[in-house]
Amino acid sequence: MALLDNLISDIQNQKLRESIAAAVKKLKEEKTFGLVFEEHLPETIQLHTLPPKKGTFVVKVGDTQQPFLPVTKADKHWVTVHEGEKFTTVPITDVVVAKRFGEAIFPALSVVDVIENGGTVKPYHLLIKAENFHALQLLLYTHEAKIDVIFIDPPYNTGARDWKYNNNYVDKNDQWRHSRWLSFMKKRLLLAKRLLRPDGVLIITIDDNENHHLQMLLEQVFPEREMTTVVIVHNPRGNISNNFAYIHEYAHYMIPRNEKLVARLKKQNIKPRKLRRWGHNSTRKARPTMFYPILVKGSKIVGFGEILPAGQHPSGKNVKRTDGTIEVWPIDQDGVERRWNFGLDAIPDEIDRLIAQKVEKGKGKKGNGKKGKGKNDNSNSEDKKGNFELDIFLTEEESVPKTVWTGGMFDAGKYGASLVKLIVGKDFPYPKSLYAVAQCLRTVTAQRKDAVILDFFAGSGTTLHATCLLNAEDGGTRTSIIVTNNELGEKREKQLTKAHVRPGSEEWESEGICNAITWPRCKYAVGGKRDDGSKLEEAYLITKLGEDKPLEMSAGFEENVAYLDIEFLDPDQVEYGCQFRAILPILWAMAGARGPLEDVGKPDFYLPQNSPFAVLLKEQKFKQFNDKIRERPDFTHIFLVTDSEEAFKDMKAQINGRRRVTMLYKHYLENFKLNTTTVL
Ligand SMILES: C[S@@+](CC[C@H](N)C(=O)[O-])C[C@H]1O[C@@H](n2cnc3c(N)ncnc32)[C@H](O)[C@@H]1O
Repeated sequence: MALLDNLISDIQNQKLRESIAAAVKKLKEEKTFGLVFEEHLPETIQLHTLPPKKGTFVVKVGDTQQPFLPVTKADKHWVTVHEGEKFTTVPITDVVVAKRFGEAIFPALSVVDVIENGGTVKPYHLLIKAENFHALQLLLYTHEAKIDVIFIDPPYNTGARDWKYNNNYVDKNDQWRHSRWLSFMKKRLLLAKRLLRPDGVLIITIDDNENHHLQMLLEQVFPEREMTTVVIVHNPRGNISNNFAYIHEYAHYMIPRNEKLVARLKKQNIKPRKLRRWGHNSTRKARPTMFYPILVKGSKIVGFGEILPAGQHPSGKNVKRTDGTIEVWPIDQDGVERRWNFGLDAIPDEIDRLIAQKVEKGKGKKGNGKKGKGKNDNSNSEDKKGNFELDIFLTEEESVPKTVWTGGMFDAGKYGASLVKLIVGKDFPYPKSLYAVAQCLRTVTAQRKDAVILDFFAGSGTTLHATCLLNAEDGGTRTSIIVTNNELGEKREKQLTKAHVRPGSEEWESEGICNAITWPRCKYAVGGKRDDGSKLEEAYLITKLGEDKPLEMSAGFEENVAYLDIEFLDPDQVEYGCQFRAILPILWAMAGARGPLEDVGKPDFYLPQNSPFAVLLKEQKFKQFNDKIRERPDFTHIFLVTDSEEAFKDMKAQINGRRRVTMLYKHYLENFKLNTTTVL
């Protein structure tokens, strides 16, 4: 920049000098420190379900340049487009409607399929087949600031044509490869940011192809968060390059600054470990505040006593109170006063992993509780001879997650690609290890068992599968929303195009990853069996907490999943009744996707039996509607259809209880118009 200033000052022509100086000044002001890249606006989308009509734009199928051609005339079979200087008429099947990001489109959600294995109370996980930019925009209506964890595994932009930008695969010869990827990611991350709760966490995986760019982009988009990077050894055999064999990738955690949101992880002890400290600094004298009694009645821990003042000593390791409660003190077999592992302030939080057990008096090597011959016995039988005494044990260990993860379970070949093949019988390029994703989610949701988890690069659906696995492990009710497009892969796309099969046709779409891999995987994993009735034979590497038998895949999961498709409608060509049906799943998702979606009919109001939302469709029927919803305190979301803000305010004021009341325009699709650039 300094060099530029010098060169400018050398310009003789004053007018030219001043105007170049002004232009450079403006450039300097615009330049952000850090990552600078071409923004590549606009992205485009092809809408195969929308019929071309006069005034819309289309692109020719198979034209890799894809110029936008305005339609001047269209009927059921032919379309006339303005192409360069001339007008060309082509069969309608040779073109597809295209829009630039920023033009309005009207989404509708339709239910493609469901698997209901979790009863009517459990909310549904959602699999959404969509371009993720649109899905994220739609989720802003339904889930703004409601997502606890976003886990994404975007295309790594290896140069091996592993992702599409504006409908074309990006390869290593594309001079804009990196800026295209950054521009693509930035737009989606900006939307994702608005979906995250203030205490939510974003986890994003990446390898060395874009890692350095991504880190800077993340810092730019999330200045209020700090990044912690975990290295995962996902390919222990290694991917050999010129110099090294790469065995790792990264998971970047974006965590609100100064927040402690990553949970300590628990692991069951094969043999319970003594709570009493041993070895260095283990005496009462070293930590006097950790010398207090733990109160046991029968074999149950019922509370904690007071710290004993210095100079006072309990009469023994077990002291019986008059009400039968036993005080257990941290005194070893040699009578040495030691201390517990936790102070009196922290111990109540640990009660779930503490047990009281009888041990043989005076037995056991000093302290550690491992090598001792002392016999553990948690039966409640009376110790007639007085040979046993109570001690306190830890059933689980807690550990702070480390920043390098190694171990067979993170192997993406074995527990990603091979697992998908086992379940669905098909190959999917580079899925994550189920256990790597489960571990990522566990680190944030171990203490947030009702978390809402979003993955908008879902691929084969590992995130939904991992969410179900975590719920099975600890009894949680986490729900996941996963989004993927329905790509086929370049080779198959070429074959089908050559055979004159069109994107959007049944034949083409049925082979896309969402239809052919993601949904079958989710459905079979939850059902424990495939569509042909064959059971999933293997077992997971995970046990239910407190049990030692691995979970069988054939047991499936007690979960509900809905498979939804985003379609785009022409509001002028859809009847009102159908428009309502098209937005109903959006309202249902907004109210937490609970209860099966019930049929609509032609009602004045919609009051589903098992879902917590109600819709008033005919304003004139408000009184009856309001009487009905008074009887349903479970309705958390109320939607009122009216075009008058005043009428809405009036009705809202009459609705009792703590409910979220939302106005819907009569022209239903208008409520959820997408693709306006204002979201960027
Ligand atoms: C690296 S893969 C994710 C794999 C996934 N984690 C798994 O374990 O199966 C990225 C996925 O994102 C999907 N994808 C890429 N661009 C997308 C877009 N714009 N909208 C929706 N999905 C997209 C691709 O189809 C691909 O399957």
